[in-house]
Amino acid sequence: MMDTDDVARMARVAERARANAYAPYSGFKVGAAALAADGRIFAGANVENASYGVTLCAERAAVAAAVAEGAVVVAVLVLSETGGSPCGTCRQFLYELGAEMKVLWGDGRGEWRQATTRELLPSPFRFPPGK
Ligand code: THU
Repeated sequence: MMDTDDVARMARVAERARANAYAPYSGFKVGAAALAADGRIFAGANVENASYGVTLCAERAAVAAAVAEGAVVVAVLVLSETGGSPCGTCRQFLYELGAEMKVLWGDGRGEWRQATTRELLPSPFRFPPGK
């Protein structure tokens, strides 16, 4: 499903996306790459807004791009200066598209940390009730 070559490809895509991030308010640029089951990779970058809460995270941007092309996302890689893991909003967003989706995060200088969306979000919100 995902080999070391896929990770290297995702890292390159995320790096390029990060350079294009629009983050004039925080100055914190994030790049992401979503790997599809068929091998395609989709880029995402954070896009901030003067109305701060409207800001889109890089992970959600990458996954939305994949969905728009009919791709089934199997992994998402997130690259930032601090190497932090995805925010709670993104965890909920990613979980919906695959509880076993692999999420990788790091600063691009060391190893990538990795977990599934299920591990990152043990009690996701589901709707309708009972689903
Ligand atoms: N950000 C992401 O793009 N992904 C995350 O997982 C955490 C935060 C962005 C949102 C905002 O533009 C900036 O990083 C600082 O929070």
